[in-house]
Amino acid sequence: MKVLAILYDGGKAAEEEPRLLGTTENKLGIKDWLESLGHELVAVHPASTQRAIIQVSSSKEGPDSDFQKHIVDAEVLITTPFHPGYLTRELIEKAKNLKLCITAGVGSDHIDLNAAVDHRIQVLEVSGSNVVSVAEHVVMSILLLVRNFVPAHEMIERGDWEVARIARNAFDLEGKVVGTIGAGRIGYRVLQRLLPFDCKELLYYDYAPLPPAAAEAVKTRRVEDLKDFVSQCDVITVNCPLHEGTRGLVNADLLKHFKKGAWLVNTARGAICDKDAVAEALKSGQLSGYAGDVWDVQPAPKDHVWRTAKNPLGGGNGMVPHYSGTTLDAQARYANGAKQILENYLNGKAQDPQNIIVGLGRYETTAYGQRDKK
Ligand code: NAI
Repeated sequence: MKVLAILYDGGKAAEEEPRLLGTTENKLGIKDWLESLGHELVAVHPASTQRAIIQVSSSKEGPDSDFQKHIVDAEVLITTPFHPGYLTRELIEKAKNLKLCITAGVGSDHIDLNAAVDHRIQVLEVSGSNVVSVAEHVVMSILLLVRNFVPAHEMIERGDWEVARIARNAFDLEGKVVGTIGAGRIGYRVLQRLLPFDCKELLYYDYAPLPPAAAEAVKTRRVEDLKDFVSQCDVITVNCPLHEGTRGLVNADLLKHFKKGAWLVNTARGAICDKDAVAEALKSGQLSGYAGDVWDVQPAPKDHVWRTAKNPLGGGNGMVPHYSGTTLDAQARYANGAKQILENYLNGKAQDPQNIIVGLGRYETTAYGQRDKK
């Protein structure tokens, strides 16, 4: 049985820091565990041994990539959202042995889930493993935009000191209306963390209403119409999965309904926001700021417009590489979770239901869009 793991190269950092588990060097900690079971783990050269059961590589783009070469006979695929191996329908059709896809982390949109349903390939993720990590990053990003932190820090590094240039676009979070698109594990934790900031209101937009006690606990109000929702918010944070219903959800048309000068934080998935429309809204001042860590293609091209987009005052950009959900604390949790899913599979044990995104021939979650269950 072949297990194929597509991870990112950690280089020197991963050699020096063994807790960087999500890397090709440290292999999610699965190496030691498999060896203890008498299996052998090898790198990407299958010719080197007949006993290889797991192939680990970062090479994922194009027909000559290890991903595309090894997917054709892999039974289990392990990927992370941070360095996504894009498993398209076309690749799924070539992957005749594939039975299980494990996402080491949360968010399996890099896999064509509808094709996985059609081909009875199960897709599991480590639900909850990094939701606090992301929620903390969201709160940080909201604050750094609202308080105009990045230009202030850059000014200090340059050796300048012009308080007025920073303060003219710095505000308090207190008294603002903050809303989340998606109030699942991450969105809800964001609301919990925002409660002590005394915002004017905390709103949410989600087709799945929160239980009344949960909504009451964070004093949030649901707004059912998206345009109505965005028009009420000073700050919007995106916390829903990427699926057919959310791809391009924040586009030029929706951005027109935002309050002038709103701040937008997206740590969910890059493709939920239209790249050019967001850059244009920032440039025109319709948005005061855009921050997040997710990009429509990863790694993001060097000339991706979100790397350098600015508001008319030269600030408002809080973009970073995809790492909010891959703190060392998070890596320990999702590496363990991925290992547990693989162990269950190898031993024919039942999987934790909350981890199953696609079961045999059907979606097992309602979070990836409103659809009739097959
Ligand atoms: P979850 O499944 O607990 O919650 C998702 C919520 O979004 C659900 O309540 C669902 O009903 C809602 N939703 C789905 N479609 C919607 C729509 N069209 N409009 C409004 N709400 C909608 O998921 P969780 O754990 O909160 O994660 C959410 C997403 O965050 C993941 O799918 C992933 O894309 C992203 N994520 C990003 C990470 C990072 O490192 N940047 C790490 C972990 C997750």
